[in-house]
Amino acid sequence: MCGIVGYIGPRSAPPIILNGLKRLEYRGYDSAGVATIAEGEISVRRDVGKLKNLQALVGTNPLGGNIGIGHTRWATHGAPSERNAHPHLGSTGEVVIVQNGIVENFLELKEDLIAEGVEFKSDTDTEVIVHLIEKHYATGIPFVEAVRQTLQHLRGANAVVAMSTREPDKIVAARMGNAGGVVIGIGDQEMFLASDMPAILEHTRHVTFMEAGWMTVIDSNGYEITDFEGQPVEYKSQKISWDPVAAEKGEYKHFMQKEIHEQVRAITDTIGTRIDWKTGKVTLPELNLTPELANKINRIVITACGTAANAGMVGKVYLEKLARVPVEVSIASEFRYSDPIVDDKTVVMAISQSGETADTLAAMVEGRNRGATLWSIVNAVGSEAMRIADGCIPMHTGPEIGVASTKAFTAPLVDQYLLAMALADLRGLLSPKDQLAMANELAQLPTKIGTLLDREADVEKIARAIKDIDHCLYLGRGVNMPIAYEGALKLKEISYIHAEAYPAGEMKHGPIALLDEEMPVIAIATQDQWYEKMISQLEQAKARGAPVIAVATDGDQRVADLADHVMWVPDSSWLISPILTVIPMQILSYHVALLRGCDVDQPRNLAKSVTVE
Ligand code: AGP
Repeated sequence: MCGIVGYIGPRSAPPIILNGLKRLEYRGYDSAGVATIAEGEISVRRDVGKLKNLQALVGTNPLGGNIGIGHTRWATHGAPSERNAHPHLGSTGEVVIVQNGIVENFLELKEDLIAEGVEFKSDTDTEVIVHLIEKHYATGIPFVEAVRQTLQHLRGANAVVAMSTREPDKIVAARMGNAGGVVIGIGDQEMFLASDMPAILEHTRHVTFMEAGWMTVIDSNGYEITDFEGQPVEYKSQKISWDPVAAEKGEYKHFMQKEIHEQVRAITDTIGTRIDWKTGKVTLPELNLTPELANKINRIVITACGTAANAGMVGKVYLEKLARVPVEVSIASEFRYSDPIVDDKTVVMAISQSGETADTLAAMVEGRNRGATLWSIVNAVGSEAMRIADGCIPMHTGPEIGVASTKAFTAPLVDQYLLAMALADLRGLLSPKDQLAMANELAQLPTKIGTLLDREADVEKIARAIKDIDHCLYLGRGVNMPIAYEGALKLKEISYIHAEAYPAGEMKHGPIALLDEEMPVIAIATQDQWYEKMISQLEQAKARGAPVIAVATDGDQRVADLADHVMWVPDSSWLISPILTVIPMQILSYHVALLRGCDVDQPRNLAKSVTVE
């Protein structure tokens, strides 16, 4: 999704902006651009494709200036091209802007502007904004007022950042709705703006997150925030503790590989301070969970997208089994328009890595409007999904850069397990003995994940064996059924292999027709209550000639005899098993994609944060 960076201060703006854009590459983009003001003029450089193209362009055609804005674009209106890339310059050459998000009513605005004689140079919705700002600015009002008046015309959700040669000592930014965050970075006699923290972390950790409906004017000495009416708003700045090194690849080839390996630390941190190891009691301090609330809840609706929704499907099993609360998992893009039945005894719980997924945020708002208690499990610190919830479980995984989510899948599994334990305890459903036993099993999780990571080379061999397939079928049952979905999603998004997932019991109702030598079956067949049924599915697949790749419990000879390849996982209770079985799935997808020469961290057509509908 689009990324924005802005700088004003004593230093040369272009390298700071280009570096910032580099740190936002994980969001996905198809073109990039930068604009600065130097000697009273705006200069713009833009190019399609990777940021290195823009860097090369700035190298051969340098930019000056101590004030500038930059953008990585993920095309929504108008094809990826130089002319559609941001920043967009107005007709007078005095105003330049970037936008993240969408102007829904751009067509009618564009028609009006064309009727007034404005010439458009791009196919974007964004260009209407710069022309409207110019139109208002021409009446002699201050730049900030021109931006403010422009916002009154716009419908949609976006973040807009603008600057002008007539007031070259300031940058104006506005955030309308939930199309993505804007963070203001406060430096020493210099200021920054960005869509996300990694873009400015190397310069400052002192930040203010802008809410929807806020505008800011920054100059090198500070900033002011108002609402769209120009009234001052109450805001807080804060110090962020992320280590910039954590946003680097370090020793790994790809962020995805690094993030797969970070799961030992992520899960350790997730369990970390939340368990009293003497009693097994769980505390989730940011959730504001009281005994009254725990006993009042009669339903939980988990809402999320993609990998986060798959994590929710595992959470449903945990919460229903342990806390005996009925749970529904509702895909956020459906929930938001479903006229949902929700009341004040319902918890709507969002799961989101980025905390800025448009559908998930809209689903949260829908839940809130209907009286539900709003919880979230979120990774990105300070994100919207974290801030608007009544209670939150922060993921504690650190920034996830690879577009394919890995550690932000396993962390919420553990978070939901902890939540289920806490709720069960408060609802009088968990004996002290069971609580302690569960805590003890959680304590062993990081070591078991470490064991799985040590087996990467074995999984890579399997990846070599299947790298040329065109299709495959993932099967799982019970608590591991969502792992089949997650395994298939991981493979398709980074290797572009067609992968379908089914609850294994459904195979006989249709997908079995697909099976032959060309259609491998990847199945989770660990030793749990569904084991015999899974063995039977594997036998049926073999009988139709399909190659079988199984995820099995260490030492299981029956599966070894049946399957062509086995990805082994350490023994565990059935509830904990998905936190382990997903790891070989992630490693397999990573190596298949790598062997096929795919761009693992930035797969085609995908964005890390999907901040538009
Ligand atoms: C994960 O591998 C995917 N790229 C995608 O499905 C993702 O999980 C989804 O877009 C939700 O994102 P979020 O967790 O940031 O809300």
